[in-house]
Amino acid sequence: MVNGSTPQEFFPGLAGVPAAKSSISFVDGQTGLLEYRGIRIEELAQHSSFLETTYLLLYDELPAQTELDRFTADVTHHRRIKYQITELIKCLPEHGHPMDALQAAVAALGMFYPAKYVLDHQVQYWSTIRLIAKVPTIVAAYYRLRQGDEPIPPRDDLDHAGNFLYMLTGTVPDPLIAKVLDTCLILHAEHTMNASTFSGLVTASTLADPYTVVSSAIGTLKGPLHGGATQETVAMLEEIGSVAHVRPYLKKRLAAKQKLMGFGHRIYKVKDPRAILLQQLVHQLFAQHGRSPLYTLAETVERVGEDLLGGKGIHANVDFYSGVLYKTMGLDEDFFPTIFAMARVSGWLAHWLEQLKDNTLFRPDQIYDGQHGRAYVPIDRRLGGV
Ligand code: COA
Repeated sequence: MVNGSTPQEFFPGLAGVPAAKSSISFVDGQTGLLEYRGIRIEELAQHSSFLETTYLLLYDELPAQTELDRFTADVTHHRRIKYQITELIKCLPEHGHPMDALQAAVAALGMFYPAKYVLDHQVQYWSTIRLIAKVPTIVAAYYRLRQGDEPIPPRDDLDHAGNFLYMLTGTVPDPLIAKVLDTCLILHAEHTMNASTFSGLVTASTLADPYTVVSSAIGTLKGPLHGGATQETVAMLEEIGSVAHVRPYLKKRLAAKQKLMGFGHRIYKVKDPRAILLQQLVHQLFAQHGRSPLYTLAETVERVGEDLLGGKGIHANVDFYSGVLYKTMGLDEDFFPTIFAMARVSGWLAHWLEQLKDNTLFRPDQIYDGQHGRAYVPIDRRLGGV
């Protein structure tokens, strides 16, 4: 009952309850269709770049060449972070989680670039550019600092993914690896009303600045049921260890009511189309760099997992192969969610802009099932034992 009025139906996790009207992306979970602004993800993965896709998500149009050049130049120009942000990252413990470092640094960005007037189009444009440009620089800075190395400044002559890989190692990456990472970023850039987008939208609806919006979303993305699943999937594969252990391990895990990481999705009842595309990318890498034993293991886990869970509509999701891919690229496992964040920042910001066009403060209801009219018991008469 709400305030003693009509009884309300409760949908745990708001499953199936629309939280917004949006024209940014569309999923058909029965057929495995994902579109960004009406364009199939397969088309974008094949023909687009991460920055072009970001433009499409933000402004609902594929950019003309001059528009893309301008947008790319603006992002490239804003990649550097202030030395105070680097100093802040230096103060963080090296054994901390990279998502926490990213969240703290993004929140701090908002103190350097005040963006109070969120309805101002200039504020919207430049904060969007800054966030897309600086998130990879922050991730790379923490990556290096925690292993005792100095951060490497960005290079203007490299593309988004290539520059990120360069900032990690100081070496210009193999173009195929940079291209594969860029495509991964496209595939992770947006996905309708997922948990982190929703949390960003709730923050946006208070008219908080975009740095706060993105840092809320980063916190939500970190959890193992969302962006943290990539890291957890690789941890699960490593625990399994070998192809011979797959079936007994999965059966034991399911019998203990533990989920298989990288499987299942609230919307998809078929294999996630992004998992299919990521698998193709892994194959492209292997053609040049050789097949990894981890991938062979992952394929077996998928086959057995499909056998055990496929009948319930539970299949491999986007996180299943992305971890294997990042691991093949030599990235540390706890950094996988930060790469997800580097991509999803585009989707979060597209939703932020959409929300501001017709904002209503999120203030859902609840169904109270607690007590009423209890007496305040003085402390010396309480029994304790809670
Ligand atoms: N492994 C085993 N069983 C799973 C499962 C998985 N990965 N995902 C869902 N299920 C089962 C649940 O145990 C439950 O079974 P039951 O009805 O017999 O109790 C049923 O499917 C519904 O699960 P539920 O968690 O309520 O569905 P959801 O729509 O909330 O799940 C996820 C979506 C993503 C949270 C869930 O599939 C999950 O936790 N997956 C693992 C984490 C992951 O890979 N996350 C990344 C998502 S992109």
